[in-house]
Amino acid sequence: MRTAVYPGSFDPVTNGHLNIIERAAKLFDRVIVCVLVNCEKTPLFTLEEREKLLRSVTAHLPNVTVDSNEGLLAEYARKHHCCTIIKGLRAGSDFEKEFQMAMINRKLNPELESLFLTAEHQYMYLSSSAVKEMGLYGADLSDFLPAQIMNEFENKIKNIVNHKEEQT
Ligand code: PNS
Repeated sequence: MRTAVYPGSFDPVTNGHLNIIERAAKLFDRVIVCVLVNCEKTPLFTLEEREKLLRSVTAHLPNVTVDSNEGLLAEYARKHHCCTIIKGLRAGSDFEKEFQMAMINRKLNPELESLFLTAEHQYMYLSSSAVKEMGLYGADLSDFLPAQIMNEFENKIKNIVNHKEEQT
């Protein structure tokens, strides 16, 4: 059985992520979508919340499971017998960072391959950060976020806006 891990912050999962998950699920016997910590980011959703959102949008994919971990990706992959890391690659800006991470992960776990799936053109410039920013300004996000998580996302944004208003 060939198992791949698709790691990320998923804060929150977008249609771009979901597209990569659906395509990876066709390539591997099993795909673990794993929410990990990115030290450079301050997340909006907790690890548990992000896992829950991912479970709701991947419920139709029988060979996809969702997990989270606060350690190294290379160690997680070893422990869960993953042969491959799946990553989505958007326009040029992703390349350098992803190349570096692939090299580091391979150094930490030489058995591990990184496989990059290019983003579909409509998601080429989509990121969770851009979605959060658009959300704060009340933009229509229906092209960017899976319908199942829209309410939860909007509630989180409302809480932030209310909290900010209370402080001013
Ligand atoms: O969606 P992101 O934020 O680009 O995902 C980055 C992520 C979470 C996959 C990356 O930061 C990661 O692998 N974090 C776990 C810790 C780790 O293994 N770091 C790799 C050494 S550079």
